[in-house]
Amino acid sequence: MPTIVVVGMQWGDEAKGKIVDYVSQDADIVVRYNGGNNAGHTVVVDGEVFKFHTLPVGALNPRVTSVIADGVVIDPAVLVGELDSLAARGYKVENLRISGNAHVIMPYHKVLDRLEEEQKGAGKIGTTGRGIGPCYADKVSRTGIRMAELVDPDQFGTRLHQCIALKNKLLTRVYGAQPLNEADVFAEYETYAERLAPYVQDTAFFLHKCAKQGKKVVFEGAHGTLLDIDHGTYPYVTSSHTVAGGACIGTGLGPTMIHRVIGVAKSYTTRVGEGWFPTELQDETGDYIRERGKEYGTTTGRPRRCGWFDAVAVRLSARVNAADAMALISLDVISGLDKVRVCSAYRNDHRIICDFPTDPVLLKECIPVYDEMPGWKEDISGARTLDDLPVYARDYLEHVSQAVGVPVALASVGRSREQTVVLRPELLK
Ligand code: IMP
Repeated sequence: MPTIVVVGMQWGDEAKGKIVDYVSQDADIVVRYNGGNNAGHTVVVDGEVFKFHTLPVGALNPRVTSVIADGVVIDPAVLVGELDSLAARGYKVENLRISGNAHVIMPYHKVLDRLEEEQKGAGKIGTTGRGIGPCYADKVSRTGIRMAELVDPDQFGTRLHQCIALKNKLLTRVYGAQPLNEADVFAEYETYAERLAPYVQDTAFFLHKCAKQGKKVVFEGAHGTLLDIDHGTYPYVTSSHTVAGGACIGTGLGPTMIHRVIGVAKSYTTRVGEGWFPTELQDETGDYIRERGKEYGTTTGRPRRCGWFDAVAVRLSARVNAADAMALISLDVISGLDKVRVCSAYRNDHRIICDFPTDPVLLKECIPVYDEMPGWKEDISGARTLDDLPVYARDYLEHVSQAVGVPVALASVGRSREQTVVLRPELLK
């Protein structure tokens, strides 16, 4: 059985949850490897809507072991809340494993996230405010607290004492903010530690063993490639490795143990927060896409910026992820438009640029070059095979596939599991 990485090819919110759910129906293990509760995955099963922020999407399936691996940052309050809310709906997550190496999001990370954004003023990133950047910063500075420490009361007490002393200096002396009370934080986090302790272990060892035994492992990427800390549109990125390679870094599994990479992209583009977005539509078409696609953040509820499909940006993702196949989401959302457009290149002065610029100054000045095609008016939400799609929708799929250079293996025409048109099933296994 294969190991499959499902990765976002744009700026996040590509509906990876639906594809993870699809490919993990016969999986043994589903793994989150990066990010934290800044991610939000929505899955609709039998009309029931489930929203996940920290738990892998596979948590719904009792046959599946869910792993929150080393590269994730965990807000224990949010994770305990997710477990409780699933339990209240009759889903008891028993097969959960959490890496002892995963870092813990502390209350001061959330406060600092807000204060740092305020300090940046007009240059703010537009973060989700969940403390993600400050938590990863502590990880890299080697001052973070890890899950293995959280669940050991003695270690946690010592580490918290060290960390909070320093953070309180930062809060009060640099930002003029209120200090945090160590005893309160300890008492609150002690309750989470008791709840989560049974799940904490060496997940890298477990995953390696499972992969060697030929179990099917699905890696659930969070966010999108263009938000990657190294390969995205820095500094308007998140703080983790969102690319497929992050599945190795964030789990401890070596690169040769990954068999397939499925890139997920919407049939158009969205972005939340600040940062460059060459194909953004600040007009009626952008509003049409936002309303039809319900493009409001799962995590923050913010309206998403919407625009045409950007093949230049997705080509970068295809390359850095070495994507074998693409899943194209929300094809139904762009039904009803007279014309549809795909950005195949950028123009800068008189120069045509085909490769996504890493230089932000150049990117800022790029103007999209569009291929325009006829749209389709039919409601395609009931389509289940390629033949069910109108000819112009099929042409669009073909055009996107050619423009990106990766075959479209699946097109999604609605939120539920069944609203899926599979074009190349062999590329999804
Ligand atoms: P942070 O991850 O909260 O630090 O936010 C950094 C940037 O990444 C902001 O522009 C966020 O809006 C964006 N971002 C983080 N997570 C997601 C996501 O899951 N979808 C879309 N954008 C995200």
